[in-house]
Amino acid sequence: MTTLLFYSKSDRTEWWREMMAEHLPEVEFRVWPDVGDRAEIDYALVWKPESGLLASLPNLKAILSLGAGVDHIFADPDLPQGVPISRVVNDNMALRMREWVLLHVLSHHRRQREYNQLQRARVWRDLDQPHAGERRVGVMGLGELGGDAAHHLAAIGFDVIGWSRSPRELDGVRTFHGRDGLKAFLAETDILVSVLPLTPQTTNMIDADFLARLPRGASVINAGRGQQIVEADLIAALDSGHLSEATLDVFQTEPLPVTDPLWIHPRVTVTPHIAAMTDPRALVRQVVQDIRSVEAGQPVTNPVDPARGY
Ligand code: GLV
Repeated sequence: MTTLLFYSKSDRTEWWREMMAEHLPEVEFRVWPDVGDRAEIDYALVWKPESGLLASLPNLKAILSLGAGVDHIFADPDLPQGVPISRVVNDNMALRMREWVLLHVLSHHRRQREYNQLQRARVWRDLDQPHAGERRVGVMGLGELGGDAAHHLAAIGFDVIGWSRSPRELDGVRTFHGRDGLKAFLAETDILVSVLPLTPQTTNMIDADFLARLPRGASVINAGRGQQIVEADLIAALDSGHLSEATLDVFQTEPLPVTDPLWIHPRVTVTPHIAAMTDPRALVRQVVQDIRSVEAGQPVTNPVDPARGY
């Protein structure tokens, strides 16, 4: 019998159990911490698994991430080597990310946060408003999510540029790559959008030095991972007026602690890590596909490269 271990602190466990029974009745569904005989576990479907858990499963055929990001898996120092890891990639997730990115880029571009403040103060005033073609939007991370967002930002008429770790070509988007391309990219970015994966290279990447390279008045939008931003440096750049605003979906600590200054900063918009909440049905389809594929001797659908970390 094929056996899957589900590890997530979500409240959807029973829903997953029903879905798996419907779509993969031949697979036994076990829920952590009721692991049973560890040697029987073939697949682990996980979100932020506790360290050492995966290494304790000697016959694991694949690790399936419940998210697009896999940093929550690589955070385990005992992660077993050589077990394939699959991450979530589907159109639904890209679509959700696209919606969120467009919403907040347009909000920065049209100065909606300031209009909200003016409304509260009952002030009727128009603010200076360049058109989209005069606004340079810089997208960091040009994979499934960032590539899609960049494409749709360009369709609205923004002057879109992109940055990625390794060279990428995108229609209608000027691209930069690597450490060497970063300075030029930042110097030309009015609205920065990051959807980068979290890796050792991107951890705390957005710091005071990085932000200082953006033009004065630039803004920041982050839907990658909170650990990529040195939050004190971001707040300092907002307070000094170097940055006009920031919209953040992800944070160093989640949930964002109630005492965190980001909650009430007048130039910060907070959303609670919902930018690309994917349709759980699309996730189920991918898990089913992954298990069928591995059982048939094929690779997982969206393999993660352990050397890159995403
Ligand atoms: C969400 O952040 C994900 O990684 O899917």
